[in-house]
Amino acid sequence: MEQQHVTGGTLSGIFKDENNIPEAYIVPEIHQREYLLNGKLVPWDGAVTNIYSPICIPTSNGLERKLLGSVPDTSPKEALEALDAAFAAYDNGLGQWPTMSVEGRIQCMQQFVYLMVQQRDVVVKLLMWEIGKTLPDAAKEFDRTVDYINDTIDALKDLDRESSRFQQAEGTIAQIRRAPLGVVLSMGPFNYPLNEIFTTLIPALIMGNTILFKLPKHGVLAHYPLLKAFKEAFPKGTVNTLYGKGSEIIRPIMESGKVSVLAFIGSSKVANGLKKLHPKVNRLRAILSLDAKNAAIVTRHADIDVAVSECILGALSFNGQRCTALKLIFVQKEIAAKFVEKLNAAVSALKPGLPWEKDVKITPLPEPNKPAYLRGCIDDALAKGAHVVNENGGYTQASFVFPAVVYPVNEKMRLYHEEQFGPVIPVVPFDGIEEPIKYQVNASHGMQVSIFSEDPVEVAKLIDSFVNLVSRVNINCQAQRGPDVFPFTGRKDSAEGTLSVFDALRSFSIRSLVATKVTEPNKQLFNAIVREHNSNFLSTDYIF
Ligand code: G3H
Repeated sequence: MEQQHVTGGTLSGIFKDENNIPEAYIVPEIHQREYLLNGKLVPWDGAVTNIYSPICIPTSNGLERKLLGSVPDTSPKEALEALDAAFAAYDNGLGQWPTMSVEGRIQCMQQFVYLMVQQRDVVVKLLMWEIGKTLPDAAKEFDRTVDYINDTIDALKDLDRESSRFQQAEGTIAQIRRAPLGVVLSMGPFNYPLNEIFTTLIPALIMGNTILFKLPKHGVLAHYPLLKAFKEAFPKGTVNTLYGKGSEIIRPIMESGKVSVLAFIGSSKVANGLKKLHPKVNRLRAILSLDAKNAAIVTRHADIDVAVSECILGALSFNGQRCTALKLIFVQKEIAAKFVEKLNAAVSALKPGLPWEKDVKITPLPEPNKPAYLRGCIDDALAKGAHVVNENGGYTQASFVFPAVVYPVNEKMRLYHEEQFGPVIPVVPFDGIEEPIKYQVNASHGMQVSIFSEDPVEVAKLIDSFVNLVSRVNINCQAQRGPDVFPFTGRKDSAEGTLSVFDALRSFSIRSLVATKVTEPNKQLFNAIVREHNSNFLSTDYIF
């Protein structure tokens, strides 16, 4: 296959003069000088970290990332104060929040959603500016998060309805409910800075835990408009924010032994390090979503057009910066040339530009070192015999990288193993179906796979091989997390625990029961407690 030249052409006009940014998408600089601690927005006059956009502005010194504002650069001292606040609010399970009725916690959460929705416009704009997410995707992230919270409230109502009765077995009567675990440390990635943190923070919170949440490096300002909503909706100390360098502030928090649950979405290397810092490993529950390099397998029986359009969605939605992205495409040799030709054409049809521009699909990247990293991966593949086969593939200008289709990739190349998390599509030609199976067997991760074939016998055989190697097998469609009511997990180094609207409620709680022997005095005692509403736990109240 022919190697393509990279000329840039019209791509060189991605970044525009500031005067050309439409009024509707301009956000004034935000210099945040407060953080949420123990029910207060505490003023901050210490060191700050400047926040720069992936969107560059042409200046006399060339392209420069636009300054969006700044946030507190708090130290381990403030981090430990936040931990103390969350620990005190939990109060060994005796605090106001963990002992509040489920109905009471639901009312607080409803108040939070009401206040959150009022900040939609500014949060969506900040997502575009801070991480380069397109307008439709930024709006979708916000709306999906609101839906997730509302669905979580409904799921908890269902769970509570099932628990609002007594069970009897072998002469023992009991009421079984799910109870909180303690202080939850929630940390999320930049690619879904709002949604991913909230998919752990919200279920953890509504189950009665207290929260420390570490703001992501990119996407931190997008949380600022929501701090007031947390402050107003929940009792003091229930939600506390952590700023500053993760490497400095998280260590003392974990070493304190006061964290009961680590909810972390990021790399397995960092997760391993964090878990080891906890002095009482058996007391720490970990809910983790980690490494993934989901493969697509396109066999000679595939509908090539379907495979191409789903692989484009899977590999390049949000520039490939999704844990669920398709990061390696295996294609059977008989159809490889045709597939790559169509893939190249589809990549060329993707409109590059700034997040608010109409129909834009490829946007600048937030991580400053990402363009150089991707270049290194591409160069390694070129040195080992692959080519960039699409027009303008890998064209880079400051933070912008046009997607590169790299072919033929093999197991000697970095792109075969590393999670590129960016706009590079490595394509691996294969002869026999055992080759992609071998890849998955040897991989350190096991999140999802996408199989493209129209042959029922072949699809069935691949399903039966892959269901025990990964946690979701997608047939003739891209890999993805949603719908959010489905379980989201992974094998090996890809995950620990399961998240879905329902599973998350279970992940952040433990079953606790109140039991007694079925005797007349005990029956009368339980009936009196229930009748007089003496207990929030021992109760048959039904939430409508
Ligand atoms: O980055 C990982 C996200 O949870 C993926 O979610 O498949 O809906 O884009 P998504």
